[in-house]
Amino acid sequence: MAKGLEGVIVDTSSICLIDGNAGRLIYRGYDIHDLVSNLSFEEAAHLLWKGELPNQTKLNDLKKQLDQQRAIPPYLKTAIRNLPVSSDTLDVLRTAISALGTGVSLKRPDLSEAINITAKIPTINAVFNRIRRGQEPIEPRSDLGHAANYLYMLTGKEPDQAKADALNKYLIALADHSMNSSTFAARVVASTWSDMYSAITAAIGALKGPLHGGAPAPVLKMIQDIGKPERAEEWIRGELKAGRRLMGFGHRVYRTTDPRAEILRDVASKSADKEFFALARHVELTGNRILKDYRPERRLYTNVEFYSAVVMHSVGLPPDLFTPTFAASRSVGWTANVLEQVANNRLIRPDVEYTGPMNLKVAPIDQR
Ligand code: ACO
Repeated sequence: MAKGLEGVIVDTSSICLIDGNAGRLIYRGYDIHDLVSNLSFEEAAHLLWKGELPNQTKLNDLKKQLDQQRAIPPYLKTAIRNLPVSSDTLDVLRTAISALGTGVSLKRPDLSEAINITAKIPTINAVFNRIRRGQEPIEPRSDLGHAANYLYMLTGKEPDQAKADALNKYLIALADHSMNSSTFAARVVASTWSDMYSAITAAIGALKGPLHGGAPAPVLKMIQDIGKPERAEEWIRGELKAGRRLMGFGHRVYRTTDPRAEILRDVASKSADKEFFALARHVELTGNRILKDYRPERRLYTNVEFYSAVVMHSVGLPPDLFTPTFAASRSVGWTANVLEQVANNRLIRPDVEYTGPMNLKVAPIDQR
């Protein structure tokens, strides 16, 4: 038995490779450091969806398609307005993607739906964020890139280049990650010959939990609660003593620092407030040192969510938009995986070892 499917290989894929011991992450043959340093999010999306870097013509074409799909239909805006303003932001996104799939007859998932979902997630996040603050939603701008337009729709102000660049790098670094829980959920749904919107709705549900995409807001809270470098050691030891997990540390696959944590540490060192970055770095080093003794056999180090929190905070995103923003990036990986699944499908249906009772007989209701 492989509890949690640890180490189980369920299929082949040409999208993404993780080398957990070496701390390497590859999209379609390219190292993640190279991609984050040199691409726009739109180029990375083209690479993940189509398996190749776009030339200028292909990039222009994809940008145009994304731009044309950014606005959300009036019925969806109304549906979002009708949700309680106190709703969890990821629940709103999950509901909106599900609603986007209504009225679409059951069909094999295709790239146009991948583009539609990826184009609309930032708009959905921004629309709800404004409505719940009593502000009018802002229409997307076609002259801005994916990252800059997202920040623009949240505030109504064109973001400065440094913030847009930081978010662009974040969006590339998180865009895919092999057979993670939410991608697996999407592939399971797609493998039943269900539709793209159902698959991505399931993926968003899987992303919500703090063992996966729900960690960055608690990471920010941890750093803010610690407040001063000299409090880190005591705070972290207290958490572990209470039997709680340290958010932003540990990984199912990596047995060394997550390469995305290194990339985002570098981004954060430029985009975050200097004092806050220094505190985060101290918390990271203290956490890594303490976890080394706490579970030496597991080799627990900082994961992607640690500096995701610092970067997203630095570009002005509120904590409860952290996981929905993760979804804005990972939608590319989810949909690329759905397309790969349906191109060479086999129903995903594992087995389980039964450990319940046997040979019982139903007693009449008055004798139970
Ligand atoms: N803090 C304290 N203890 C930990 C941590 C941690 N961050 N991570 C693992 N452990 C402990 C577990 O409690 C477990 O101990 P137990 O056997 O006594 O229960 C032991 O180490 C085994 O851990 P793993 O098998 O390595 O963990 P697993 O692969 O099941 O889970 C996970 C990986 C969920 C990321 C885990 O490390 C964790 O809970 N981290 C904190 C939450 C977090 O950062 N989530 C974001 C993950 S990144 C992403 O999905 C985008």
